[in-house]
Amino acid sequence: MNILVLTAHPDLASSSINRKWFDALSNMAGVTARDLMAVGGPEMNFDSAVEQAHLQKADRVVLQFPFYWYSSPPVLKAWLDQVLLVGFAYGPGGNQLIGKELMLAISTGGPAESYQVGAFNNFSMPELLTPFQQTALLTGMTYLPPFVLHSAMSRDQTRLNASVPALISYVTDPQLDPSANRISDLLVRRTHQSPG
Ligand SMILES: Cc1cc2nc3c(=O)[nH]c(=O)nc-3n(C[C@H](O)[C@H](O)[C@H](O)COP(=O)(O)O)c2cc1C
Repeated sequence: MNILVLTAHPDLASSSINRKWFDALSNMAGVTARDLMAVGGPEMNFDSAVEQAHLQKADRVVLQFPFYWYSSPPVLKAWLDQVLLVGFAYGPGGNQLIGKELMLAISTGGPAESYQVGAFNNFSMPELLTPFQQTALLTGMTYLPPFVLHSAMSRDQTRLNASVPALISYVTDPQLDPSANRISDLLVRRTHQSPG
């Protein structure tokens, strides 16, 4: 399986978790990881032909980013706007992404329990991520359950470090069930399952 990781962070050097994820994924066989700010530069200009060629080679596309205002940092939006063009991703003849998988890998500042009705962020992660899900649907991609690390600004380095192998095994898992469209905060689940 060829995996393409597109990392969207305004400043990976100052990142506490997305940098670790990007570095780890960059060193994996079968994974091509691209730092979109490094590729597009401060103007966020992308060569659509180059980006589309990367997509064509991929079986699974992973969009990796910190959650900013309930969405992605702007470089990912710039990339989507410039690369998922009519005739390539949608519209007449736009069939190049059909059958590929799309996965999100996201870090949030807010804790898991804040993402529900009546709590601080009011909406669940699957609800807030529906624009990405619909982008997958429109382009014929299979939308996989996202990997979400909540409370990513915590100083608990053990927990942050544990997210790296958890992310790698998730991203490279060929058996993910697209119908299980739920939040896959593996770390939270593990914490709940193993008291002490
Ligand atoms: C501009 C901005 C907007 C943010 N918006 C959100 C948000 O909507 N929800 C949330 O849970 N965290 C939000 N955060 C916190 C980030 O998600 C958090 O800092 C990030 O996941 C940490 O990853 P990093 O260390 O790799 O940058 C925001 C942070 C910034 C700087």
